[in-house]
Amino acid sequence: MFFRDSAQNLPALTSLNNGGPRRTFPHQSSEGATSVSTESAGGHPTSSLGPNQAVGVDVGGSGIKGGLVDLDTGQLIGERFKVLTPQPATPQAVAAGIREVVEHFEWSGPVGVALPVVVTAGIARTAANIDKTWIGTDIYELLGAELGDRQLSVLNDADAAGMAEDRYGAGKDYKGVVMLLTFGTGIGSAILFNGVLIPNTELGHMQVGEMEAEHQASSKVRDDNGLSFPKWAEDVSRVLIAYEALFWPEVFIAGGGVSRKAHKWIPHLTNRTPVVPATLQNSAGIVGAAMAVAAGLRP
Ligand code: BGC
Repeated sequence: MFFRDSAQNLPALTSLNNGGPRRTFPHQSSEGATSVSTESAGGHPTSSLGPNQAVGVDVGGSGIKGGLVDLDTGQLIGERFKVLTPQPATPQAVAAGIREVVEHFEWSGPVGVALPVVVTAGIARTAANIDKTWIGTDIYELLGAELGDRQLSVLNDADAAGMAEDRYGAGKDYKGVVMLLTFGTGIGSAILFNGVLIPNTELGHMQVGEMEAEHQASSKVRDDNGLSFPKWAEDVSRVLIAYEALFWPEVFIAGGGVSRKAHKWIPHLTNRTPVVPATLQNSAGIVGAAMAVAAGLRP
């Protein structure tokens, strides 16, 4: 269980990576994954690492991004590192990309991985924006073979972002049910109650009227149909009204790239529940994945 309100409730990471040796990996290029770059100037951290840290990796349709996360603050230590998502994004090729990202940080401690899949009992049950051969894959076996013997957690990407926003970002001052929605190619969802995640809610696939929510209100639908923000806000409102009627959240957190333009569409929403933009931007998945492994979460 993961509790938002008390950092003390995090299982002590000292027991997970108790001063574990920091191996230096060769920066080999991995099959199927192209090294892009660090995202800002400065070297990656190699020393003075405290105990309450983990590497989080967020696998997206175009990039596999990682960072070393300070779990006391939810901040990244040093900059993110990204490799391109291999195409096709098969389990083996993505796992090699994840290894490349982890090796970049010269990190032998716990690793959390966020994927655009439903994960139950460690098995990928769906695959959105990655190769369909993920379905049925035992993700711990796959990543264990690449990353060796260490603590791993694998969870849905929106769930990871939700955990991070709930604890460190836009949701940190809300009590009760917090719902994060990511508006991108699809709609990802995460529901937390007092910091505890209910994994794999997949509300983007909920039928709202004639269609699945993500087929009428994702950011991709807005782009594909050339909708203005006020017009798109009508579609988003319809979906939010359906969600709030069932889940009664205290707040919706709007994530995904379109949350950077929140001022253009959030004021046009007509649903009841407050909607606030995500604040951790493209680090939320990384931070949430690191939180998941720190908490020993295995959805
Ligand atoms: C998938 C979710 C995912 C979301 C965001 C949806 O299409 O079904 O599992 O979290 O997209 O990537």
